[in-house]
Amino acid sequence: MADLTVELLGMKLANPTVLPSGILGERQGMLEAAAKGGAGLLVTKSVTLRPREGYRGPVLVPTPAGGIMNAMGLPNPGIEEFSRTYAARVGGRPVIPSIHASSPDELRQLAMAVDRLGPPAIEVNLSCPHAGGSRPDALVSQDPAETARAISAICTNTDVPIIAKLTPNVSDIVEIAAAALYAGASAIAAVNTFAAMDVDVNFERPVLGNLIGGLSGPAIRPLALRKVADIAVAMRTGCIDQAPIIASGGAASGEDLARFILVGATAVGMGSAVYERDAGVFAAASAELDAWMQAKGYRRLGDFRGKVIDWLATEKECADEPIGKAVERAAEAGKAAPRR
Ligand code: FUM
Repeated sequence: MADLTVELLGMKLANPTVLPSGILGERQGMLEAAAKGGAGLLVTKSVTLRPREGYRGPVLVPTPAGGIMNAMGLPNPGIEEFSRTYAARVGGRPVIPSIHASSPDELRQLAMAVDRLGPPAIEVNLSCPHAGGSRPDALVSQDPAETARAISAICTNTDVPIIAKLTPNVSDIVEIAAAALYAGASAIAAVNTFAAMDVDVNFERPVLGNLIGGLSGPAIRPLALRKVADIAVAMRTGCIDQAPIIASGGAASGEDLARFILVGATAVGMGSAVYERDAGVFAAASAELDAWMQAKGYRRLGDFRGKVIDWLATEKECADEPIGKAVERAAEAGKAAPRR
């Protein structure tokens, strides 16, 4: 058997699969099912300061190209109730709380509340593509300065490692990752869903209750791979700090796990795959990854992590200018007290 264990932010994971924040994980039962199903790491549904009921339905719609469109509306019980039920481990797996807020001040309050729970890390969801309703303002992680401001607000209130969950709905995800890392994030989660909508031709209206939403599942896998690779190339060429990448975007099998690890991911989320199959997908994908590694002669994940980046990074030079500007803006806006 190959060694599938992963070291991530001081945690030792049994395998690289992750239940990501997103459409699942708001109930303890889901975390338990994912742990039982073999997930190496569990991330909760994003929690907000006050309870949110979520949007009216439909909140989840399968798409013909193989994927799911969702606009759940971040349903969650709010931080007070969340704190009563949170456990740092479920079924022997570490549990990372994900937080979402609409201002740095809310983030500050959430960071302090979550810090008291003793989590192994905190994910900050800067990327729900429809949190503000049907006409949301720009997402935090569409702007380097806003990203740095948000990360600084958290980092000044907790020493727990911060994972910045980024949107793919930007032209240059590297400058956003640069700003997040500069402001003190310890890892990058990439990517959240792609902004999407579909149209019901009978009713002549958008299919989602919220009108607009985000697309996940197999249809976005190549798009997500490209975003993760962009970040990994920037890390390899020294344009941005090295940090673990927790990838997500359409992974559903052991080969998909291999694909994301080949482009530099440390761990890989599987969200839509759980919805489309069941929580057993984590163990199944891990077993498939093990078989793939054995066939290739790999003993550890580190034997092939980032191998595809060799193809992409060789001719590239660090594009100092845009990254420098992103960090400059980040520093100014965040009044950045960078952690490093
Ligand atoms: O609507 C939702 O609850 C989705 C959240 C997200 O994509 O982060």
